[in-house]
Amino acid sequence: MSLTTPNNIAGISCCVYSVGVCFTKVAHMPNQPKVYLNGSFVDKNKAFVSVMDRGFLFGDGVYEVFPSYNRHVFGLDSHLSRLQKGLKSIQIQNPYSLNEWKSIIHKVIELNPENNNQAVYLQITRGCDQDRKHTYGDIDPTIYIQSSAFNTRSKKELLKGAEAITQDDIRWSQCNTKATSLLPNIMYAQMAKNLEIEEVILCRNGIVTECSSSNVFIVKNECLYTHPKGSYILPGITREAVLSCATACGIQTVEKEFSKNDLLEADEVWVTSSTREVVPITLVDRLKVGSGMVGEVWRSIYEHYQAIKVNQ
Ligand code: PDD
Repeated sequence: MSLTTPNNIAGISCCVYSVGVCFTKVAHMPNQPKVYLNGSFVDKNKAFVSVMDRGFLFGDGVYEVFPSYNRHVFGLDSHLSRLQKGLKSIQIQNPYSLNEWKSIIHKVIELNPENNNQAVYLQITRGCDQDRKHTYGDIDPTIYIQSSAFNTRSKKELLKGAEAITQDDIRWSQCNTKATSLLPNIMYAQMAKNLEIEEVILCRNGIVTECSSSNVFIVKNECLYTHPKGSYILPGITREAVLSCATACGIQTVEKEFSKNDLLEADEVWVTSSTREVVPITLVDRLKVGSGMVGEVWRSIYEHYQAIKVNQ
């Protein structure tokens, strides 16, 4: 797909900005977030996709969420590399090169100047077909990118601790693909929201995997544990950054399966994601984690993470 594909919505050519290595100047339209759709930057309220899009009909696509601090994306290469793997795993050809992705993502951030810190959401679906059928032919993917304000919690807020519950992990066995079809994940996330708690921690056959939309870590005897990469968890970019922080802080890390019992007997529990960063959990299934206070290991990691996220 060409980067300069004109955008045509319902036969009406809409307000677009040319894309590519060179970007043209744009007319100022206040208060409308700018998004990227299939080669064009448009006002969010003018971005439309067809009902025949397989993302809409089947959840047939992959996505990424990039955290940006002071307009600088943290872990950009790692996110783009995971996107590439995800596309390959569902047999969609990556429409852009690494540099093209970087230009587009930075342009979206630049076009939304109100927010210094932004969470960029990018999704690629297989595209639109003539009819709704499970199988697919050779179609152009639909590419959508938006950016929204990204407010992280203060240390003071995090030190209050957070609560989680455990649930059986009923998801499929390809959780390493960041697929847009997230039905179980949204049900777990909604469960957490309804209970006014931070997260739902998932267990598959008694083994703690990850959470509705984050990875999970435990600390036991000053050693940090998390589920190994593989098909049962999303290989979180924050997870990787936290493992590096731990090593830099001299904390031993072990990527190994651990049980629900280990979780309940842990000294510390944290959940991590690009938008949550590293959240200390002090109650699991209504039981205190360790002393019930945020732990010392979290404090070291928190400081280190705050430093690297803006100085990578
Ligand atoms: N979710 N596991 C799951 C199931 C997730 O959905 C996420 C992130 C993570 C953490 O990955 P990362 O550290 O790369 O953000 C783990 C994103 C934020 C979302 O769906 O909005």
